[in-house]
Amino acid sequence: MTTDSIERLAVDGGKPVRTRPLPLEFPGVHRIDDREIEAATRVLRSRSLFRYYGIDLQSEVESFEREFREFVGARHAIAVASGTGALHTALSALGVGPGQEIIIPAYLWVSVIAAVVNHGAIPVLADIDDTFCLNPEEVEKQVTSRTRGIIMVHMSGAPGNVIAVREVAKRRGLFLLEDCAQCAGGTVGGRKVGSFGDMAIFSFQMNKNMTAGEGGCVVTGDEELARRAVACHDLGYPREGGRLVMDRPGLQLWGRGYRLDELRAAVLRVQLGRLPGITAAMRRSKYRIRKALEAFPQLQLRRIIDPEGDTGCFLITTYPDSATARKVNTALRAEGIVTYPQGQSNIVMTEWGLHLYYNNLSLVQHASNDPSGSPWALKENAGLSREYGKGTCPVADGLFERSILLAIPSNLTAGDEDDIIHAFEKVLRALLR
Ligand SMILES: Cc1ncc(COP(=O)(O)O)c(C=O)c1O
Repeated sequence: MTTDSIERLAVDGGKPVRTRPLPLEFPGVHRIDDREIEAATRVLRSRSLFRYYGIDLQSEVESFEREFREFVGARHAIAVASGTGALHTALSALGVGPGQEIIIPAYLWVSVIAAVVNHGAIPVLADIDDTFCLNPEEVEKQVTSRTRGIIMVHMSGAPGNVIAVREVAKRRGLFLLEDCAQCAGGTVGGRKVGSFGDMAIFSFQMNKNMTAGEGGCVVTGDEELARRAVACHDLGYPREGGRLVMDRPGLQLWGRGYRLDELRAAVLRVQLGRLPGITAAMRRSKYRIRKALEAFPQLQLRRIIDPEGDTGCFLITTYPDSATARKVNTALRAEGIVTYPQGQSNIVMTEWGLHLYYNNLSLVQHASNDPSGSPWALKENAGLSREYGKGTCPVADGLFERSILLAIPSNLTAGDEDDIIHAFEKVLRALLR
């Protein structure tokens, strides 16, 4: 086939590039083998499933915290039961509450908004740019006298412009909380995400780069924040040798009950060892595909701050208009670039649910879990409530309409990659002439 030849698209009745579904996109899951089984069994045999004491405590959570903080390059790590729990723990440690505004990106996950709202603070949206993460200039525009901090979310596997956002935070006296749930193992300039902010959180839910089904971690370089996070993730007090210490001044707080258990910590220790291999595999696949797509100047590739630090789990391509993006996506799916039974691996980004600010109806409708109307109706927040509907962040709105998100599983074979490249080339030659 010459580069000019156009094959009949499957969507028009031609032969699809492949008929076998692509592997599902759960990066850590594909690598689970006897080592995770052995780790879980070791804990079960010990009959000691709780982190702070037991019949024959293996101290898996404590070991995981040590190994994870060394991996990230942070002084402290507090393992928790979920990424959402990590966000709540971090915001509690940072003292977030009513009367404060917290800047969040237009492209995110619902848990980020929920953590702010559940603390009684007001979320303030800032637009993204072609990195699909916070635009530092838009962050700056949203800062008011009530702003307390910024949550920078490293979305879809690639770090955002964290150095520029940190510079805004420093200049304006705000905290920076990095949400690395979708970017474990990512780096900027050789330095791990999670080591740039005052605090950072990770998730180990099943879709993430490393997993134990559920789980999370809070990391920080700050001693005092770490102490508060330890208390807040547990019962509100520090512990020594597993026992609660009730008389520590400044550390008589309220806990949220997000402790991680020994079973999942044991599995996470194995997964952490696999993480560099998992991200290297996804990055290799992704950049092979990206390289082939560079031949099509009509489409725009997501701007990556540091390609060597991209964890590689998603490829985002952007088209001149939304109709073209939809046509390309339909045609790619017809070529067999899909997964089953879940079909969310190759979508126009408008289909990406609670990752888009305006799809979060609880936010758009100023919903509250309690009759006080918290946080919107709290007197401390008088005049702070915003509108959050579509149109609030126009750059994000346009990017969502014009972009396609493709998951890059950690176990793609060279043949799978060939098929993805072939399908893109076939579709783009036909549709982007
Ligand atoms: C960006 C982001 N933050 C936070 C979370 C919450 O993590 P979890 O599902 O472990 O509660 C997720 C999970 O999908 C996420 O993608």
